[in-house]
Amino acid sequence: MRDEFPIFQAHPELIYLDSAATTHKPRCVIEALTQAYARDYATVHRAAYRASLAATAQYDQTRITAARFLNAAHPEEIIFTRGTTDAINLVAQSYGRTYLQPGDVILVSEMEHHSNLVPWQMLAQQTGATLQFIPMNLQGVLEWHIPSNTKLVAIAHASNVTGTIHPIAEICRAAHAMGAVVVVDGAQAAPHLKIDVQALDCDFYAFSGHKCYGPTGVGVLYGKKSFLEQMPPIQGGGDMIERVELQASTYQMPPLRFEAGTPMIAEVIALNLALEFVEQHRESSSFLTYATEQMQTIPGLQIIGTAPDKVPLISFHIAGVHPLDVATMLDLRNIAVRSGHLCAQPCLRKFGLTTVARASFGLYNSFSEVDQLVDGLKSSLRILQV
Ligand SMILES: Cc1ncc(COP(=O)(O)O)c(C=O)c1O
Repeated sequence: MRDEFPIFQAHPELIYLDSAATTHKPRCVIEALTQAYARDYATVHRAAYRASLAATAQYDQTRITAARFLNAAHPEEIIFTRGTTDAINLVAQSYGRTYLQPGDVILVSEMEHHSNLVPWQMLAQQTGATLQFIPMNLQGVLEWHIPSNTKLVAIAHASNVTGTIHPIAEICRAAHAMGAVVVVDGAQAAPHLKIDVQALDCDFYAFSGHKCYGPTGVGVLYGKKSFLEQMPPIQGGGDMIERVELQASTYQMPPLRFEAGTPMIAEVIALNLALEFVEQHRESSSFLTYATEQMQTIPGLQIIGTAPDKVPLISFHIAGVHPLDVATMLDLRNIAVRSGHLCAQPCLRKFGLTTVARASFGLYNSFSEVDQLVDGLKSSLRILQV
């Protein structure tokens, strides 16, 4: 797999363990992006000349692939966004501002990435709705129930801190029984799990292309057709309109209603290759088991999040050692791990921490790299713990 990724030819020594932040790109995605600019580039959806029609066909093909990737019932349920953050903000500002009222409850877990928390804080301030939180235990498992008056549940499919995979289908069933809609942040799940939005029965599902071996600046929002058709656009401009008068306009049906302006054409086209790549190469969970076992051999190392079902990432803290120092020492050995608050400050506080280190794994990692991480940690600690 490593050979498929040109970055490792440029940096043969690199051990990249920060795929939860962003993944490196396989050759097929880089080539698709280059070709989309160098050979096939034209605007989409607007022009009659052949290059534009061909670019439009490629752009629309990604919508079909993304629908298959998520098992959506219709390609029109796929909206291209700039990423997960953009997608969640779209739901908050379109669905949320239209349908939420003072006294309604927005239910969010304590474990969310800031991208799935701050947009709901803003919505609560705008609408008078109240935020309530699903608590988690110190294993990183949610202790959830759906309180009365809940109108919207916003929850990650998998946590970027603990790695926990949450029981989304069960949560959707309970939320729907209460009359609430469910928005799923799939940023960490989409690269690893086979997603089936119809089986989950979630109402919205968001993920980012760049965490799925695709380009930056492009992501996907899935929304049930019946919801999207009732939602207003939040951005006005080209492509999203049907008829424009000086005083008012009518809008296209979804998804184009939500894709105002010239989109990220080449990036959407290259995303097609990335999604096919993930479909072909999803990794096995034995890798996480091995990494967890090996890291547990390090004295004083505490793994943050020990749920039975996890995506392959391990956040950790080592007694008496600052995570930034750990990450810096590992970097000297060309091992790239993340350190910091992981964009989830409330979640870390729950563990009594403000910062952690995180090793997260992608398709290009190997068992031997796990061994090198563990060796690197042990050597670093000999120096740092003196
Ligand atoms: C769980 C989760 N949600 C949302 C995001 C935000 O994704 P993006 O920055 O691509 O919009 C991330 C990124 O780290 C994430 O891990």
